[in-house]
Order: sequence, then C-alpha cells, then structure tokens
Amino acid sequence: MSGLLGLGRRSVLPELLDQGVTDEEARRSLGDLRFANRWLGGRRGLLAAVRPHLAPGGRLLDVGCGSADLAAFLRRRLGGGVFAVGVDVKLRHAREAAADVRVVVADVRALPFPDRAFDVVTASHFLHHFDASELTSVLRGLARVARRAVVVTDLRRAAVPLLFGHAFFPLLFASPVSVADGLVSIRRSFRPPELRAAFADAGLPDVRVRSLFPYRLVAAATLQAVAPLGEGGGR
Ligand SMILES: C[S@@+](CC[C@H](N)C(=O)[O-])C[C@H]1O[C@@H](n2cnc3c(N)ncnc32)[C@H](O)[C@@H]1O
Repeated sequence: MSGLLGLGRRSVLPELLDQGVTDEEARRSLGDLRFANRWLGGRRGLLAAVRPHLAPGGRLLDVGCGSADLAAFLRRRLGGGVFAVGVDVKLRHAREAAADVRVVVADVRALPFPDRAFDVVTASHFLHHFDASELTSVLRGLARVARRAVVVTDLRRAAVPLLFGHAFFPLLFASPVSVADGLVSIRRSFRPPELRAAFADAGLPDVRVRSLFPYRLVAAATLQAVAPLGEGGGR
C-alpha cells in the first residue's frame, strides 16, 4: 500500500507555508496547526520526553516554533518557572506567538545563542521541512545549543494518516494551505529508522525513537556531557 501511494521514500515536494503565502492565509494556517497540536495528538508524548531533562527553573528552546503554542503548553505543564524561548525564521509567525514565550526570529542554521545555552531544545513538525542532505547540519545546530537533551517530534510516514488526511483535512482545517501542507508533510515525514539514522549521522547516537498514537514519532537524544537529573548532575 505504502509503495502504491508513493510513500517508499521521503518526498521532496515543497510546503506552501515555507514558500510564502498571504498574511491572512499564514494566520489561518497557524491556527490550524494549533488545532492539530491540541486535538490530533502529539503534545503528551512531547511533554513526557522533555520532562525527565528539565528541572524547575530550567531553560527550554523550541525551534521552528510557529506560533509557539507547544512551547507555551510545555511551560504551563512543566511548571516551576521554566524559561521558554521560541525561534522561527518567519517574523509573521513570531508575531502570532503565545504571550508567555519569548520569540526570536532566526534561522536554525544560525541560532543566535551560545553553546549549551538551553537545558532542552525541542523541534516539532520541523525536521521534515529539510531534505536528507540538510538533516545533519540542522540536528547539529539544535545539539550545539542544548545542554541535556534534544527532543524532536514529527509525523510518521504511513498510508493510514495520508488517507485520513485526504478524507478529513478539508473538513478539519480552515485554510487550504493547511490541507495541502498537511498532506505534503506526511509525505516528507519519517520512518523510525530514518530518524534514528539522522541523529546518528549528526553525532547523536544516544537517541530513543518512539512511535506514538496516532502516527507520531518522538526522538529524544540525551547529551553525554551532563549527568542525568537526580544523579548528581543538577544545575
Ligand atoms: C509546520 S510548522 C511547525 C510549527 C510548530 N513547531 C508546531 O509544531 O505547530 C514549521 C515551522 O518551522 C519554521 N521554519 C521553517 N524553516 C525554518 C528555519 N530554517 N529556521 C527556523 N524556522 C524555520 C516555519 O516558519 C514554521 O513556522
């Protein structure tokens, strides 16, 4: 089935939101992303993967944050005054950001932070925006500014979500950009061995990749230099 649907390899089709759409269309599409994050799963798995690495008062960076709803969700759920920063390459997206997250406009290829500036660096529905040749440098960029862990969530490439998307995205999403990009995102997304290999190629072999319901992947790479929380490796 996967082969018939062209899912054997990651697609290189571009996404409309990356290419440039009107301000109004971008605003609606970001609203659809917030809806999907809230109702189509993934947030809890992200929280569970981040929690072991972030102590109270810790520092969190979310790269490719969109309107920063996931960073705001993590901050709220983790409590303890977590300091949350989002990065997005688009000023228009940063302008939509949740109030309790500081947002910086920057490209992942040139993050304006010192090495190991954040305890945990997250990136959600972001890695699939990059072709295979770019994955290593993007993951290295995330790891450079992380002290304890890099946590990536993304979609799992499979026939079921693609068929679901064709049937239901037009009903669920307000923007036709979200419908088109949602389907392309599934085609650009990963299978677990591909994600594991990308982390290993970036020098992050200590990664745990989990498949979560519904058709999500969470990859958590522990950085070696710092002992785990609760084992004498406090801040
Ligand atoms: C699909 S959205 C995901 C937004 C959010 N993380 C979420 O899960 O809802 C991908 C985001 O990555 C941003 N982005 C794309 N390329 C980027 C880059 N090179 N550096 C930083 N952000 C980038 C886009 O502007 C967009 O807001």
